Amino acid sequence: MTGPHPPMPAGTDPPPAVDRYDVDGSGGQGWQVGTGNQQVNNYYGGPPAAANAVEWPVVVGRPPRQADAFQVRPGLRDRIRAGLASSGTTVLTQVVAGDGGTGKTQLAAAAFRAALTDRRAVEVAVWVTAASRAAVISAYAEAHAATHPAAGGGDDQEQADRFLSWLAGTGRRWLVVLDDLADPADLAGLWPDGPAGRVLVTTRRRDAAVPGQAAVIDVGVFTDAEAGAYLSAKLSGVAGLPAGVLVEAAGLANDVGWLPLALAHATAVIINDGITCAAYRRLLADRTRPLAELFPATPGQAGDEYAHTVAGTWSLARQRAQALDPAGLAGPMLDLISVMDPNGIPEAVLISDPARAYLHARAAASTPPPDESGPAGGAVEVTVEVTVEAARRAVRTG
Ligand SMILES: Nc1ncnc2c1ncn2[C@@H]1O[C@H](COP(=O)(O)OP(=O)(O)O)[C@@H](O)[C@H]1O
Ligand SMILES: [Mg+2]
Repeated sequence: MTGPHPPMPAGTDPPPAVDRYDVDGSGGQGWQVGTGNQQVNNYYGGPPAAANAVEWPVVVGRPPRQADAFQVRPGLRDRIRAGLASSGTTVLTQVVAGDGGTGKTQLAAAAFRAALTDRRAVEVAVWVTAASRAAVISAYAEAHAATHPAAGGGDDQEQADRFLSWLAGTGRRWLVVLDDLADPADLAGLWPDGPAGRVLVTTRRRDAAVPGQAAVIDVGVFTDAEAGAYLSAKLSGVAGLPAGVLVEAAGLANDVGWLPLALAHATAVIINDGITCAAYRRLLADRTRPLAELFPATPGQAGDEYAHTVAGTWSLARQRAQALDPAGLAGPMLDLISVMDPNGIPEAVLISDPARAYLHARAAASTPPPDESGPAGGAVEVTVEVTVEAARRAVRTG
């Protein structure tokens, strides 16, 4: 889904050239609603470079925006930094397999941005969502075109091969991030390597063995202190929240297993509903119990605990989004978004005729999915067409 990105002008804030929605789609489950987040469209625009001239650094692809109330996690940050300072591939994995949401992508994105601003900044930075072999090949092809504008055509595979050969020999410092690698076997013949390069991989697979692997860094959940700092940063001073909003914040962190993604879901609902952490804990308990009965955990199977947690926090957040104006459109919009690029989708796609026809058909259907039948998100009669403006507002990023 990513288009070619012209080089980012050094030392300046790139002007947002095109509206793109930043989508928090971790594990297909992450999504923030009504959080009052300030979104940054870090699409690197700017005047087109003279034909065939390359302006360094070249940035291809884009990491997700930095999370609201971002926690630096200095221990992990330093280990990643050290991994990238040595040659070889650094792999970010997580202690617990399952639905993700521990913050691997956020840490990789921070490292990616830092690599572009460091004293010895990289000259080529490529962010790849490595969900499939095809996605990786097309990202490399795009990177080849961006670094070699004068080079002729060829299909994606040819261009990708040429990019890999170039990486192997170039003296320009480069970084390739392969985010959310599903299966290392997908990348046979596609591992970037070269004396001036670094590779950073994030994956949910603990067993991921990748060629040239130097360091594996397990990314677990927030510490107690990080979860507390996160909740406090997100919820303090937000207009409309009751005094004592943070009472039982530690209990809430414990309830959601200190999982960053679940905490993000929780704060979205707390802010939307104008409630306290204590009140949210009761909502979540009511929501999680039936889910746990529906999907009993297999004892000892890592990840199930988080799957339940995220199912509960997610379904509450989705239900609230569904009730927001334009009522009934957020859920179908989320379903649409869930099959697109997790890190950014051009607005034009989401407000296009086919997208709006889909939203209309879904919203007009009489039976809402079971998780939306609660008081806040009942069936909605939609008989009129979904306007561009309604589609735009259904994507609530701020
Ligand atoms: N360091 C952090 N500070 C604040 N929020 C975070 C942090 N890491 C993760 N989050 C929250 O958790 C969500 C999921 O994080 P992400 O990095 O996408 O997880 P993963 O890649 O491990 O699945 C983010 O969108 C954000 O809301
Ligand atoms: Mg991720």
